[in-house]
Amino acid sequence: MSKVAVLFVCLGNICRSPLAEAAFRQEAERRGLAVAVDSAGTGDWHQGHAPDHRAQAVARRNGVDIGGYRARQVRAEDFDRFTHIVAMDPDNLADLERLRPPGARADLSLMLEHAGRAGEPVEDPYYGGDDGFDVTWADVSAAARGLAQALNDGAA
Ligand code: 4NP
Repeated sequence: MSKVAVLFVCLGNICRSPLAEAAFRQEAERRGLAVAVDSAGTGDWHQGHAPDHRAQAVARRNGVDIGGYRARQVRAEDFDRFTHIVAMDPDNLADLERLRPPGARADLSLMLEHAGRAGEPVEDPYYGGDDGFDVTWADVSAAARGLAQALNDGAA
């Protein structure tokens, strides 16, 4: 089997998907899983930007420095470079399904499916207060644990 590579996708790539990337990196490292990990946005407004300062703060509170991450937009080759592309909400998933080149290998899923919450979005915290980012961290951490477990068991 080819090496597992996971791409986390939201709208802007400055709030939810960088946190998903960070939580999953932490979890993969804890388990000694050899996986490539990245994140991207369906939109292009924040390309090259660091994560939102509130996302950086919640990551730091949970032991990860994401200050060096830079936003980028999803591109066609991602659907072949990555074995798994994980969308934060159903709109992101619908956009990815539209962008997916025919025959591309990546498996598409919704983040909270991996936490036993099929169909639920990781809510966008961008327009809310700081406490929204704690909810985001809890959600992406739970899903990261589930996904890492499934990959570890060969079930995803
Ligand atoms: P994200 O949050 O998709 O979790 O990175 C957003 C960030 C920026 C915008 C929307 C959502 N925006 O419209 O600029």
